[in-house]
Amino acid sequence: MENFSMVNPVKIIFGKETIGQIANEIPQGSKVLMIYGGGSIKKNGVYDQAVKALEGYEWHEFSGIEPNPHYETCMKAVAMIKDKGINFLLAVGGGSVLDATKFIAAAACFEGGDPWQILSKGAKVAKALPFGDIITLPATGSEMNSGGVITRAETEDKLAFNSPLTFPRFSVLDPTATFSMPVRQIGNGVVDAFVHVMEQYLTYNQGDSLLQDYMAEAIVKTLVSEGPKALANPTDYDVRANLMWASTWALNGWIACGVPEDWATHMIGHEITAFYGLDHAQTLAVVLPGVMTVLQEQKAKKITRLGKEVFGIEGGNAIEKTIEAVEGFFEEMGVKTHLSDYGLGSEAIDKVVNRLSQRGWMLGESHNITSEVVREILTLRK
Ligand code: NZQ
Ligand code: ZN
Repeated sequence: MENFSMVNPVKIIFGKETIGQIANEIPQGSKVLMIYGGGSIKKNGVYDQAVKALEGYEWHEFSGIEPNPHYETCMKAVAMIKDKGINFLLAVGGGSVLDATKFIAAAACFEGGDPWQILSKGAKVAKALPFGDIITLPATGSEMNSGGVITRAETEDKLAFNSPLTFPRFSVLDPTATFSMPVRQIGNGVVDAFVHVMEQYLTYNQGDSLLQDYMAEAIVKTLVSEGPKALANPTDYDVRANLMWASTWALNGWIACGVPEDWATHMIGHEITAFYGLDHAQTLAVVLPGVMTVLQEQKAKKITRLGKEVFGIEGGNAIEKTIEAVEGFFEEMGVKTHLSDYGLGSEAIDKVVNRLSQRGWMLGESHNITSEVVREILTLRK
């Protein structure tokens, strides 16, 4: 096991009828900005519950955060914060709303010029507004981590940032808020969480990190058993509760302790979304089976272990069968796994490979995935 240090300060409030508890968490006298997306929270009653809980506060609202949130939209919220003297943010929605809120919290306090530098140059976040959230889509783990991913529409850049100052103060996880998710987002959420675990588990043959491995397998087993049930019966509370908590654990820092991390699938996927607008999880479902195939020698021990522990695969051709099982699971969740399913071909591969070559990134846990290896990976996924 590698050395590590670990902190996660997020207060989780989990369960039915918990949204009202935000009033215990937001300091009295705060000037609150509620930030949300395209209106799903108005249809499923979450908005009304949040408004009720905010009685007694001075509060304002900022809507229109898009999926794969835009820097340009975030900066409009920053202007509003300055104008109204806001000092607490409340994100209500999916990972996009929450990521946008993290960036807005940092950008509103940024003193080094254009806050885009937080994304483009990794400029330090020296200060951020406090914020909490009501998460309505289990997928990203954003409710219990300090990262965010923001797109600059103008330049087609989708970049990530991270800061100890952008952990939520609290996150409300009410599984009933997820009942209204469209089928496509149920599949997306499960695939995204599955791939988060793979990025931290399916790596080279390092010394055993048994606790992290067992935890990773527990999360994935939960996703594999409960994901299809959520598609079949979207209002089963226990299924939704298990999926919600598993998604949070897939990216809250615990399974990353002391292990190498990959993240190549995500980095390649972000470029595909930036250019072609695919949902985040759609890109992952395309890329991961390719990464597993091309890097199978390096990842052999863990692929074999995944096959045995999660899919019950043993004996001959275990690696090949495990990759097929992963791809089959994504398809079962309704998320297509080939570029052609999204109308993309060689031209898209060239564009993504060129972009990654310009960025000069060496991806993967061994930093051996060059842009030409990315070409090999994507060519397999046509
Ligand atoms: O905008 P509204 O109207 O709210 O609709 C949203 C949106 O259209 C809808 N939705 C959310 N909750 C719903 C609902 N519809 C009905 N009922 C509900 N309960 O779903 C659509 C997608 O929402 P979005 O927030 O975009 O999805 P997700 O949570 O998957 O977030 C994706 C974003 O997170 C980033 C991705 O790159 C992408 O930009 N990620 C963030 C990470 C992090 N912070 O740690 C890690 C991830 O790897 C990921 O990169
Ligand atoms: Zn993801």
